[in-house]
Amino acid sequence: METLAPAASAAPRPVAPPPARIDWSALIHPEHVHGSLYTDPAIFQEEVRRIWQRTWVYVGHESEVPNVNDFVMKSIGPDPVIMTRGKDGRIHLLHNRCPHRGNQVCEKHRGNARTFTCNYHGWTFDNDGSLRGYPFPSGYEGDMRKSLGLGRVARVASYRGFVFGCMAEDGISLEEHLGGAKEALDILCRNSPEGEVEITAGFLQHKVMANWKFVMENETDGYHPAFVHASIFDVADSQIGTLYADTSTAVTRYFGNGHSEVDLRPEFRKRGEPLSWFGTTPQKLPDYVSKMNAAYGEQKAREILIEGTPHIMIFPNLFIAEIQMFTIQPLNVNETVQHVTALQFKGAPDFNRRLRQQTMGSVGPAGFLLADDAEMYERSHRGVQEKNPEWVYLGRGSHRERRDEQGFRIGHATDDLCSRGMWQHYRSLMEAK
Ligand code: FES
Ligand code: FE
Repeated sequence: METLAPAASAAPRPVAPPPARIDWSALIHPEHVHGSLYTDPAIFQEEVRRIWQRTWVYVGHESEVPNVNDFVMKSIGPDPVIMTRGKDGRIHLLHNRCPHRGNQVCEKHRGNARTFTCNYHGWTFDNDGSLRGYPFPSGYEGDMRKSLGLGRVARVASYRGFVFGCMAEDGISLEEHLGGAKEALDILCRNSPEGEVEITAGFLQHKVMANWKFVMENETDGYHPAFVHASIFDVADSQIGTLYADTSTAVTRYFGNGHSEVDLRPEFRKRGEPLSWFGTTPQKLPDYVSKMNAAYGEQKAREILIEGTPHIMIFPNLFIAEIQMFTIQPLNVNETVQHVTALQFKGAPDFNRRLRQQTMGSVGPAGFLLADDAEMYERSHRGVQEKNPEWVYLGRGSHRERRDEQGFRIGHATDDLCSRGMWQHYRSLMEAK
């Protein structure tokens, strides 16, 4: 775990939000949540304060800013954030807001720049956020560079190249926040012969008219694929359907802190065929397989290639879906953007080419998979606005929940375990003092 940037901020401390008057215990029960949680703008405003502006949120990957002075526009919740690599090589997360009169200082999506100049009155900032200079300085008493600069996200840290930001100066570390989910990122990275993921394929943005929590919950909902994705499973003649069947041996797992996964490895181990998780064979990816054998030894490489990559939702916004990565960005209570890219593995060009092709087929502009999910998000969002019944039911599989050998709660692949865990964590965040 690496700390990437200092916590200092030139801005005055934020004004404390007014106390919430929402009774969360009345809205969130172990097996039911109230429909208004998805549609009430006042609840969304509380989420911005208590989740997006207070907890660790995934922002971007180190490989998106490989060179000194690279920058890329990202977000934390609805707020834009510029991720930069400073001249010292460290990563900074800066608010895109001039401390002078509030203008946005960067309009580009990505680039390489030592400084950002605000278009309104020409103030210039270094890419670590410090104010470098401003026109007509005689109009100010004293040196404004000592007191003003771009706002910095208070804490920045990364794990295995995944960069997270936390706007609160105090609280648990990223490592504590990730907890058991760290291992899933380790499992992901070991699919590279060099042990590293690269986010270099570019992003597609999919916007839906639905609350962000419908998207988050759906990512580890193993009940819907058999129905929502039946058409792609048929057309592609894929074996994916068996992973989410009533007879599946795959499990849902809740890691705590809102993180969950559908662990498909029991099914892949049963098959015992390397790369079957990816719908292919070692003969089709000879370079990749030989590099994996060289890196890990044949036996370990075989095990890695049988088990594949994880299917994990890291609360509140990072979804690793075997071959793709999604970042969930809420714009407001009823609009959400999913930023999606193909995962790329360092040192594996033949594997990466297929990952990009499969990503285009499933979640590209004419892709089957995400379009089906998007339709469900929007129908759910419209549906919960009806008041009879008022509640959403999350009880599937409560009676068969159990613990795995590490003490994490697990259930059948099709159970609501992950949603129950997310809502439990959500409630703890919303009720926190
Ligand atoms: Fe940025 Fe005035 S608002 S320089
Ligand atoms: Fe789906």
